[in-house]
Amino acid sequence: MNAQNLIDTARELVAGDKGLLAMDESNPTCNKRFAKLGIPQTVEARRAYRELIVTTPNLGECISGAILFDETIRQQKKDGTPFVKVLTDAGIIPGIKVDAGAKDLAGHPGEKITEGLDGLRERLAEYSKMGARFAKWRAVITVGNGIPSPGCIEANAQALARYAALCQEAGLVPIVEPEVLMDGDHTLERCREVTEDVLRTVFNQLYTQRVMLEGMILKPNMVVPGLTCPKQETVDEVADATVRCLLRAVPAAVPAIAFLSGGQPAELASARLNAMNVRFKSRLPWALAFSFSRAIQQPALEIWRGEEAHVMAAQKALYHRALCNRAARRGEYSAAMERT
Ligand code: 13P
Repeated sequence: MNAQNLIDTARELVAGDKGLLAMDESNPTCNKRFAKLGIPQTVEARRAYRELIVTTPNLGECISGAILFDETIRQQKKDGTPFVKVLTDAGIIPGIKVDAGAKDLAGHPGEKITEGLDGLRERLAEYSKMGARFAKWRAVITVGNGIPSPGCIEANAQALARYAALCQEAGLVPIVEPEVLMDGDHTLERCREVTEDVLRTVFNQLYTQRVMLEGMILKPNMVVPGLTCPKQETVDEVADATVRCLLRAVPAAVPAIAFLSGGQPAELASARLNAMNVRFKSRLPWALAFSFSRAIQQPALEIWRGEEAHVMAAQKALYHRALCNRAARRGEYSAAMERT
């Protein structure tokens, strides 16, 4: 492991107020999103969509790294240029999702455990050879009646830490993603309590597994009320609760926190990230960045709908969301940007 390389890559991933674009939807997830819009669920449609994303003009101005799925990292543009080369030429660092998805956790109804540790060392070596410089693993925590349980939180935290240690051994920066889901009617306070508990457990395990905190990025959820909770706090209240929770649980040695969007409307995700940076940026030990999938891609996907004729308009929408989120990192995002 070359510690300085890991530190440099982690810093590069959040330099220039840029952020990460998650385009690592598994085939079933990608197909589900395509099906909703009447797009064929084929290898070629997924390839064409990913070509649209990676060839978006000037994307590298706002996006520092792109997280790919196993199918995508092996694909090429129609003219034969590998996606990894297209990204690298655009100044975007290629990354790869390496978990094998969340499965039911035995003995824990309603809870999930993320699998994928078996053979991970070999897969990381292969991805590194293909040009990936960072990786991602997502753990899923569901909030509900009597859950999450300590057994679920601990099992997921340990898997995240073992994955992160293997990544660093292979020279890849681990993106550590414990996601507390928004589904449910729980309050913002309940989300804060669960998120804090999860993050403390994750960092305890990262320490136990000897992960170098300076060479990783945390990808958490924002602290938000459940989707069907009757009380929906304001943008500033969400920003305050999120930062307060992170200050308690995330060590200062971590260079950056890059949020997932989790199904929030795209404009709201930008507004909340912006509010955090406006209110706290100068007082925080880590950068507050983004690693969104839906909050960057969804408007573009809805314009594209599988039609070649819509590619340019979709790319414009994708670039716009990336630009809004770069502005949010600077605390310069406003609703007026959405009208341009
Ligand atoms: P969303 O931003 O759509 O939540 O996706 C982020 C991600 O990478 C989930 O693993």
